[in-house]
Amino acid sequence: MILGKAGKGTVSTSRRQVLKVMGAAAVAPLRPGLIVGAAQLLGGCGGGSSDVPVPDPDSVPVGSPLRVPPVLTPSSATATDDAYVLSVGEAEIEILPGMSTRIVGFDGMTPGPTIRARAGRPVTVSLLNELPPTTLGDAPGEVVIHLHGGHVPASDDGFPTDTVPPGTSRIYSYPNNQLPATLWYHDHLMDFTGPHVWFGMAGLYLITDDYEEGLGLPNGAYEVPLVIQDRNFDGDGNLVYTGNRNGEIGDTLLVNGTVAPYLRVADRKYRFRILNGSNARAYRIALSNGDSFQVLGMEGGLLPSPVAASSITLTTAERVDIVIDFSSIPVGESLVLRNLLGSGDTADILRFDVDRMETDDSQVPSVLRPIERLAVGDAVQTRSFTLSGGMMGGLWTINGNPFDPDRVDADPKLGTVEIWEFRNATMMDHPVHIHQTLFQILEINGSPPPATHAGWKDTVNVPARGSARIIMGFPDYAGRYVFHCHVLEHEDHAMMARFDVIP
Ligand code: C2O
Ligand code: CU
Ligand code: CU
Repeated sequence: MILGKAGKGTVSTSRRQVLKVMGAAAVAPLRPGLIVGAAQLLGGCGGGSSDVPVPDPDSVPVGSPLRVPPVLTPSSATATDDAYVLSVGEAEIEILPGMSTRIVGFDGMTPGPTIRARAGRPVTVSLLNELPPTTLGDAPGEVVIHLHGGHVPASDDGFPTDTVPPGTSRIYSYPNNQLPATLWYHDHLMDFTGPHVWFGMAGLYLITDDYEEGLGLPNGAYEVPLVIQDRNFDGDGNLVYTGNRNGEIGDTLLVNGTVAPYLRVADRKYRFRILNGSNARAYRIALSNGDSFQVLGMEGGLLPSPVAASSITLTTAERVDIVIDFSSIPVGESLVLRNLLGSGDTADILRFDVDRMETDDSQVPSVLRPIERLAVGDAVQTRSFTLSGGMMGGLWTINGNPFDPDRVDADPKLGTVEIWEFRNATMMDHPVHIHQTLFQILEINGSPPPATHAGWKDTVNVPARGSARIIMGFPDYAGRYVFHCHVLEHEDHAMMARFDVIP
């Protein structure tokens, strides 16, 4: 039993050109006031002329250019592994135009720098904690780094009480013996993960391998990570955190820390690795013209085949890897990545301005990576967990218990497969995340998951008054881990449990 194992099926080496998922160019009207597209400035686009419209170089698009977190350079690299140094500390950065915002960031930024790793090639991260004893949001300056989605030994997984005190450092080791996927790192301090992440402590960690690179998917400048977050700001430009135990919700959307972002794109395919890095808010992403995009995978890596979808919901901590084809959008026009669960300022996530023509030699092959299905018959145990609490300002609980780092709530045996059932007794959704392993969803509210959710996952939304059943193995690493609701204020108010993998 190997984590996130690829199936044994033969992978066809034939490459098929992606179907054109975009229909005839029909860009829906954009939100008034937000968009001054090059098309308007040019007095319309195309219009029977065969001339290619050229955007006016003097035009200033509304919004801010999308920031893309820099890729961290290893401090040293040997034949077998990469070593990184990462600091965490308070910083002042510009998020709202012309204002300065205090953050708690990795290397002075939020999201932090992106770490790019390769499957099978271990990484170490030396974390220097430069925070004061008490930091923003009246949170302690202790930090705990967790590599979310990582298959990591217990000692390096970031158990909520394994703290790195202010003014000290420690080295985290990540073996990367798992399939390529979109991971992220973030603080996991017991009771204070919400404020720590809200004020900036999160970044991406992308794993790839030769096989994935050989698929011909859009890469380089055409592979763009998108970390979607919501925040509240005060009149001085500083972040406001109230600690609402029902989940902190912001009224301003940020993508990679950019407010009202736009991205200039060519008329070709792009791959976007999208993370819902919000504390509590869920998004249903869709394109403003209603067209489909191709879903390549979610948290645990590639699906067996791409799945066309016109929208997909991401609860907090969920990721989706998609390809959008802009080839049917005329140069000079725009397309918006929308949030169908939002309204007003939370309805638009990111505007794509198609500003040039380019040839496209990328593809979305019809076979991505076969997945080994876990068999229900292989499960040696079924465990049930009821999610409840939260009434009258009380704690959130799992099987009636608030988190206690000293109490073991589940004890799966190393190398075995188990089924876990979650029942949600509350009126709110609870996206449950399990550390160390990846799982497959058997059922949500009694039905099999949609094809987009049928691959390896590490977070499953257990709907309000609903249920979810998942199956997973516990390979390679014994020791103590946690699972919890990933609404960070639910987690901080005790909707978390410890499980120990028993050798
Ligand atoms: Cu993303 Cu236990 O967390
Ligand atoms: Cu995790
Ligand atoms: Cu919850």
